[in-house]
Amino acid sequence: MKVNGIDYRTVWMEGTSVFFIEQNLLPFRFSIQEAKIHTDCCHAIRTMMVRGAGAIGAMAGFAMAQAALEAPASEYLPYLNEARLDIGSTRPTARNLFYAVEKVFVAAMESPAAAVAAAQGIADRDSADSEKIGEFGNRLIRDGMNIETHCNAGWLAFVDYGTALSPIYRAHSQGKKIFVYADETRPRNQGARLTAWELHQAGVPHTIIPDNAGAYLMSLGKIDMMIVGADRIAANGDVANKIGTLEKAIVAKEYGVPFYVAAPTSTFDAACAGGSLIPIESRSEDEILFQEGPTPDGRFEKILVCSPGSTAYNPAFDVTPAKYITGIITERGIITPGKTQIGQLLSM
Ligand code: MRU
Repeated sequence: MKVNGIDYRTVWMEGTSVFFIEQNLLPFRFSIQEAKIHTDCCHAIRTMMVRGAGAIGAMAGFAMAQAALEAPASEYLPYLNEARLDIGSTRPTARNLFYAVEKVFVAAMESPAAAVAAAQGIADRDSADSEKIGEFGNRLIRDGMNIETHCNAGWLAFVDYGTALSPIYRAHSQGKKIFVYADETRPRNQGARLTAWELHQAGVPHTIIPDNAGAYLMSLGKIDMMIVGADRIAANGDVANKIGTLEKAIVAKEYGVPFYVAAPTSTFDAACAGGSLIPIESRSEDEILFQEGPTPDGRFEKILVCSPGSTAYNPAFDVTPAKYITGIITERGIITPGKTQIGQLLSM
């Protein structure tokens, strides 16, 4: 996607280095950073400089390829195994990360060059899948629709295009008049900071709403459709996504608002029978207790926004049962959980 007229991907590999857009600084500062070795990539994923299911998947693949390039010939396999564990421990929920690590690990058994090619292939596929999701999802969007989205499943969360926002960009570029309500998505505010920034860059009319406003807007008939992303989709169609998604899905069903999930098939975990088996990340309480932003002189500052001395509990994802989901928009078409067998879809 374009930033100030220049085309960017969120993460890419050149030579032995991985380059990425530092998402913690957005929307205040646009900065490209370099990860020289695979442990730099691990750090970037852990600290959410790179975040979003597809983006961390691509970065994890590149990190595994870097490990293959770094590994001493005499210690090749032990080094790769250690790197695989290290990369796999950075974030637990998004399926794409594990999908990428395994794929590149297998390729690395052939050669470091094959590992790099596999990682590049994963990034290219992520971008192409997201573009396709835009095509299929756009068919659901009619002129004049008001669409709500949660968290950030735009191009920043993938290599390019995004998932939940990809149909929105496509509809907007075709001249459909649409309006987007972006949930702020506490505690890290990916909606208020990243989705709003992306939509602003693309000129899509939008506004940010507090996380707890969705039910009220749906009760007033102000939302025609909801589209969210996914971090992992179980074989029965249950979907893990950013915390707060479950509430929106339940409310959407109550008010008859179609609730769509947009995700590439690399997010499906056929080995995971149901949502209760998906590992849910718990993150630092500091993300709730403090907020971070720039001071007028451009420094980044963290301030306490909760009662001093209180603790906070910070589960990062929740699981939406398939029964609340109208459809899953994939790069192969739109499927209805319950009607389409996920295993069948993956073997197509
Ligand atoms: O914790 P994050 O920001 O990496 O969360 C992942 C997400 O971006 C959301 O859950 C998103 O809706 C899933 S699609 C990338």
